[in-house]
Amino acid sequence: MGLLLQSLSMLFFLLLLLFGMMPSIPSAQNLGNSSAAHALDAILQDYAYRAFVRPRTGVPYDGTVPSNLTGIKISAMRLVRGSLKARGVSRYKEFEIPTGVIETPYVKRLVLVYQNLGNLSEIYYPLSNFTYLAPVLGLLAYNASNLSATNLPELSIVASQDPITVDFSSIGQAPSGSTPKCVWFSLQGSVNFSNMTSGSRCSTTQQGHFSVVVESVGGKGKSRKVWIILGSVVGGIVLLILLAILGVWMEKQWHKSYISRMQEVAGAGEPLEMRTVRGIRYSTAGPMRTAPALETEYVP
Ligand SMILES: *[C@@H]1O[C@H](CO)[C@@H](O)[C@H](O)[C@H]1NC(C)=O
Ligand SMILES: *[C@@H]1O[C@H](CO)[C@@H](O)[C@H](O)[C@H]1NC(C)=O
Ligand SMILES: *[C@@H]1O[C@H](CO)[C@@H](O)[C@H](O)[C@H]1NC(C)=O
Ligand SMILES: *[C@@H]1O[C@H](CO)[C@@H](O)[C@H](O)[C@H]1NC(C)=O
Ligand SMILES: *[C@@H]1O[C@H](CO)[C@@H](O)[C@H](O)[C@H]1NC(C)=O
Ligand SMILES: *[C@@H]1O[C@H](CO)[C@@H](O)[C@H](O)[C@H]1NC(C)=O
Ligand SMILES: *[C@@H]1O[C@H](CO)[C@@H](O)[C@H](O)[C@H]1NC(C)=O
Ligand SMILES: *[C@@H]1O[C@H](CO)[C@@H](O)[C@H](O)[C@H]1NC(C)=O
Repeated sequence: MGLLLQSLSMLFFLLLLLFGMMPSIPSAQNLGNSSAAHALDAILQDYAYRAFVRPRTGVPYDGTVPSNLTGIKISAMRLVRGSLKARGVSRYKEFEIPTGVIETPYVKRLVLVYQNLGNLSEIYYPLSNFTYLAPVLGLLAYNASNLSATNLPELSIVASQDPITVDFSSIGQAPSGSTPKCVWFSLQGSVNFSNMTSGSRCSTTQQGHFSVVVESVGGKGKSRKVWIILGSVVGGIVLLILLAILGVWMEKQWHKSYISRMQEVAGAGEPLEMRTVRGIRYSTAGPMRTAPALETEYVP
């Protein structure tokens, strides 16, 4: 019983040691900080609308953000529904909006708010295992009927013919050996990856937030390390359990042989050394008693 207790406490101690040494395992993928990102959209809509002073349609107006959001760039463009559908917008910052884009529900005039989250991209749109090669860019549509309105719901816009494209050509090249991918965060909080088209462009049929990412090598290496550590912990536990079982078994065997030795000492009265040489408990009775009988047969 003592050996078993010893083994178990040893196991417990080793487990504590191993878990203490283990680096924290990266948490499950954070699919964007949805609530914070949504609140940011509302603030940026408000501040983008403030850039409008007797706005002309189809002209982008750059806004200014509150000082706690320095690093973010915003812009707003007012459009008439019919002209968006019939003419599109040949260029709005990095976005190219083809003909055939339809907004719902119906509004006569709408505003397209542009966002460039700059160095705040990773804070509002964290993506584990990926590295951003470009800032997160947003394109969102709102009702333009009341330019002092806040907390407006986004309208839905859908490209019914050609897709809307985002031109990331001013972005640095991807590290060699890695393939950059487009990432799209929908307003509902989902994340979709797609291949880049014609070099440095991403295409979309809907609004939302867009960027270019590569899979980070660090993420892969880290997760492999975690697997190695997890593997050795599990292996160690199995080994310790086996050792504990072995210990219990050995203790039982020793106990058995001790009892049998005691019984033999009490019963047979043979010299102790002889039985120890033969080792096995049952061997003392059988051959030892028949052997003299066999010998006596051959005695002339
Ligand atoms: C990161 O990548 C590893 C495999 O490379 C994967 O096991 C892990 O789940 C990924 N992490 C997230 C948060 O997606
Ligand atoms: C999400 O954003 C909120 C507000 O900015 C912040 O308090 C929270 O810690 C963020 N959560 C994550 C997981 O980044
Ligand atoms: C930044 O400031 C604005 C206006 O002062 C405020 O509405 C907003 O909540 C602040 N945002 C953050 C992330 O602190
Ligand atoms: C982002 O960059 C601006 C300057 O462009 C700087 O003032 C701000 O502190 C930076 N924010 C973060 C979170 O790095
Ligand atoms: C757009 O705003 C105007 C004025 O606030 C409002 O009357 C109208 O219902 C809004 N349209 C939609 C689709 O929300
Ligand atoms: C526009 O919105 C502001 C802020 O919500 C409100 O005070 C104002 O009455 C609205 N104007 C119209 C014409 O709906
Ligand atoms: C998002 O990705 C999923 C799977 O990768 C795909 O089935 C779905 O159609 C995509 N959604 C859009 C709107 O592209
Ligand atoms: C993206 O490109 C890779 C090759 O670079 C290809 O294997 C994959 O099927 C493509 N995915 C889509 C969704 O087109």
